[in-house]
Amino acid sequence: MTMFNRFMFGGDWNPEQWPEDTWEHDIRLLERAHINEATINVFSWALLQPDEHTYDFSMLDRIVDLLVRHGFAIVLATGTAAIPAWMARDYPQVMRTGIDGTHQVFGGRHNFCPTSPDFRRFARALASRVAERYAGTPGLEAWHVNNEYGNGGGYCYCDLCAQAFRGWLERKYGSVEELNRAWCMNFWSHTIHDWNEIVPPVTYGDAISTDKCVISGLQVDYRRFQNEQMLDCFRLERDAIREHDAHTPVTTNLMGVFKDLDYYSWGREMDVVSWDNYPGMDTEPSFTAMCHDLMRGVGGGKPFMLMEQTPNQQNWFPYCKVKKPGEVAELSWQAVAHGADTVQFFQLKQSIGGCERFHGAVIGHDNSERSRTYREVRELGADLERRAPALMGSCVHGQVAVIFDWENYWSLEGCVGPTQGLHYPDEVHRFYRPFWRRNVPVDMVESTVDLATLKQYRAVVAPTLIMVKPGVAQTLAQYVREGGTLITGYMSGIHNEFDLVVEGGYPGPLRELCGVWVEEIDAIAPDAHIDVAIGGRTVRGSIVASIIEPEGAQTIATYGGSDFYAGTPAATVHTVGEGRVVFIGTALDAEGMSAVIDPVIDACGAETVDSPEGVEVMRRTADDGTVFTTVINTAGRPVHWRHALGGESLDLAPFETRIM
Ligand code: GLA
Ligand code: ZN
Repeated sequence: MTMFNRFMFGGDWNPEQWPEDTWEHDIRLLERAHINEATINVFSWALLQPDEHTYDFSMLDRIVDLLVRHGFAIVLATGTAAIPAWMARDYPQVMRTGIDGTHQVFGGRHNFCPTSPDFRRFARALASRVAERYAGTPGLEAWHVNNEYGNGGGYCYCDLCAQAFRGWLERKYGSVEELNRAWCMNFWSHTIHDWNEIVPPVTYGDAISTDKCVISGLQVDYRRFQNEQMLDCFRLERDAIREHDAHTPVTTNLMGVFKDLDYYSWGREMDVVSWDNYPGMDTEPSFTAMCHDLMRGVGGGKPFMLMEQTPNQQNWFPYCKVKKPGEVAELSWQAVAHGADTVQFFQLKQSIGGCERFHGAVIGHDNSERSRTYREVRELGADLERRAPALMGSCVHGQVAVIFDWENYWSLEGCVGPTQGLHYPDEVHRFYRPFWRRNVPVDMVESTVDLATLKQYRAVVAPTLIMVKPGVAQTLAQYVREGGTLITGYMSGIHNEFDLVVEGGYPGPLRELCGVWVEEIDAIAPDAHIDVAIGGRTVRGSIVASIIEPEGAQTIATYGGSDFYAGTPAATVHTVGEGRVVFIGTALDAEGMSAVIDPVIDACGAETVDSPEGVEVMRRTADDGTVFTTVINTAGRPVHWRHALGGESLDLAPFETRIM
């Protein structure tokens, strides 16, 4: 089931940045590019509310009228993502305080304190007025609350947040003794005797950096707390909208593997997940695929919205490469193949002022239909118009579950030692890629997912599952005993939910299940690697090497090199009940991961399609059973595929998409 009345092809439009007599011209240009949707009002607070007591919707009325007259779909933002000057001046507490204690003044965006009662009051009031005024507008397809919560400025560390955090901790732990225990506070004389002694993890206090903190339990709890505060802000606006509009889906745009928010908790509050896809110069197509799967997972498997992507360059990377001919279409179809029911851009018209003026847009600074970007968008629009509506509402059914868990993200990157080389999304991707290479559809899940859900999958993959929350080890063990396959490895099974080490040797609560004891974890220098022998081949491990003593598991790969642990197991497999557990001790390169995981894919009975390098095959299944198979050449070169899906050969142009 899709949420929308049409396949939306459009994106952010900021007509308030131009003279009104240019609007019609721009709309006509957009229409000719098959654009049928505009996302508006994302950053208009200062225009809508020139002072505390005055609202002025006259310009927004005219923008909405114009779009309605042209039959556009509208995604209407509440406009609360950047604080107007008067509010920063008259209510300074609405502004965020950074991790270094800097209290922001007027400027920037995404700059509010999520705890501030004044921010909450003003944001709710604006959302409510916008909803009251525009509910029922023809073509209104979705509400877009705020924008990219958390992006840019990080969490807030102000006194209001500190005070609320103390209350949050008191409710969670009950007594300071419990808190002292849970956070191991006798370390470095951190023991507290009163709730008021708690200080947020600031860089002039306990934080070592934005990722690491002297007391890691403090950091993880502060992240949980800030996540809840921001989610409260979302709920507040959502509920204000609901008072005026009972049905139109409400969303806010997420950011893939963005660290600071536990998006699963957000997905549960949103009618439809939307997200902004901005791959960089060297982002692998498999990484983008994983992000789409993650966003689909956050939304409970339902189709999602590709709320933003750029039709050409970004402006905010240090070096912003232009997209190659065909690449925007490829990225768009890849999103659709993974479950997107919309394709939207940031933005429809390129700004002439502000720091985003070098960001790609459908209508560029040339203001014409001649640019390569415009022409490619037009071609893509025509193609989507023809082929995409049929796919709307259909679902991707993963055969394998890969765990992506935000608290694990925080816990792993919060470690001080044994290496600073571990970045959680990259490690999850390392385990994801072998499945992508063989076109095994993957669902991303949280670590606390229940047994019934896990049992739908041929295999469950738990990369760097460092924090094992209550019940997780038992569920995984049951899944394996009943015939499931679990793949896990280095840096797993170390912490409990308080970020304290579980005593009794790594991988702690997973030790018996994995049939190994990881006695030591060696760090490998950034420019070095360790050889690993597997099935007569030599592949490479990096970042860390777990020094493993098998306790019932069989060795399937061994370390080479000349270190004292050369010849010991680098990867193992353990049979438990009807199932088995694969433990990978080091961050293997792509070839090494495939060497370990390919035989597991074959043995667990997942369906595979062996396509040429860079060619991705995905399936979406409609309610009536129709299966749409997309074949995408993610590479910028032509590919000849002998014996493709139907047995015939297939010639794919660079970045071409076929749908069968
Ligand atoms: C984000 C924001 C947009 C815009 C784009 C530019 O995704 O939501 O407002 O700044 O980045 O890439
Ligand atoms: Zn604050």
